Amino acid sequence: MPEIVFKGKEYVYNHHLTVPYRPLLVDVAKGIGPADLGSNLIIHGDNLHALKSLLPRYAGQVDLVFIDPPYNTGNEGWCYSDGVNSPIMKEWLSTNPVDGEDMLRHDKWLCMMWPRLVLLRELLSERGSIWITLDDNEVHHARDILDEIFGADNFVATCIWQKNFSPKNTAQFFSEDHDYVLIYAKDKQLWRPNLLERTQEMDDRFTNTDNDPRGPWTSGDLSARNYYSEGTYSITCPSGRVIEGPPPGTYWRVKESKFKEMDADGRIWWGEDGANQPRLKRYLTDVKQGRTPQTLWFYNEVGHTQDAKKTLLEMGVLKDQESTITPKPVALIERILELASEPDSLILDSFAGSGTTAHAVLKANAKDGGRRRFILVEGEDYADK
Ligand SMILES: C[S@@+](CC[C@H](N)C(=O)[O-])C[C@H]1O[C@@H](n2cnc3c(N)ncnc32)[C@H](O)[C@@H]1O
Repeated sequence: MPEIVFKGKEYVYNHHLTVPYRPLLVDVAKGIGPADLGSNLIIHGDNLHALKSLLPRYAGQVDLVFIDPPYNTGNEGWCYSDGVNSPIMKEWLSTNPVDGEDMLRHDKWLCMMWPRLVLLRELLSERGSIWITLDDNEVHHARDILDEIFGADNFVATCIWQKNFSPKNTAQFFSEDHDYVLIYAKDKQLWRPNLLERTQEMDDRFTNTDNDPRGPWTSGDLSARNYYSEGTYSITCPSGRVIEGPPPGTYWRVKESKFKEMDADGRIWWGEDGANQPRLKRYLTDVKQGRTPQTLWFYNEVGHTQDAKKTLLEMGVLKDQESTITPKPVALIERILELASEPDSLILDSFAGSGTTAHAVLKANAKDGGRRRFILVEGEDYADK
């Protein structure tokens, strides 16, 4: 398998091993409820140290990791802060923050992410998964290191999240509408996404115009392009019209004896006047009890960037829309929880920002009566607020 080369890789490859285990101290004054490291946690500190400190208690226990790390856009003011024992990286500490002019900014980002991803993988349970939001600044590099750390076989999907609802006419090339959500399983053989709730619109496609006792149905084509040796017979409609055979280049999906059996059982639809090409009835009770997730996520379902800021404004956490904070919409994380958590899951977000993940976890519990728990890690003062 090809491996990515970047400056500093040899120094960070096993850096997680040399990070000290620092004790997690409970700040009773800031907490709500029991002062217990086994309940919901908001950890204020660098996430490399926090993740290492979580290992003794939580290795292999986390069901879902969601992270929204710095995208490395060149103007977010993120800093390389790991004191790795190498001259080049010690020098990096003096050239912070990492800006767009920095020729090593991708190397620095990869060096920052590598040990954190290694620890996050150790914290994940065997049936767990990691979900990471990024944009085109680093998504391709992230895929490379994730393939190395998690194994390329454990790559699940890259979803596209439509983050903007209107074009930016000031864009020099393209107005960017989307971010990515990368998904890796700890072990893809064991992990499966949950189905999404069916929508009313999907159910509304099923009706019961003929009072079929099996309930609402929709109809599907009796003919298909796949060759079927027993699929070329003629059919006489209830009206008496004779259909010589399937349309050219197609075959009936079922053989004649089966077709007659289905018709006798009321499972064939001939149209109101009984003269149409017959169609197979598909019943609502037989379809999957949910929606298979798709890789395109539209803002009308999972929110957009402005929604996210609006939530914080309404909560009084943010003072004005122009603030540099880039929260994610609660609905986006709710979607991830719907796909990748169970009512008793443990969820970890080690780049927590304003705490959207905690908000979404509490909402998911309120919705299904679950007892999901969250662990958030944030380096800045948001953690206290
Ligand atoms: C893009 S923001 C996350 C926003 C968050 N998803 C939300 O909805 O508010 C990234 C966050 O990671 C935090 N961060 C960056 N490096 C960190 C580190 N080494 N340790 C802890 N937090 C860090 C930043 O302070 C920032 O709040």
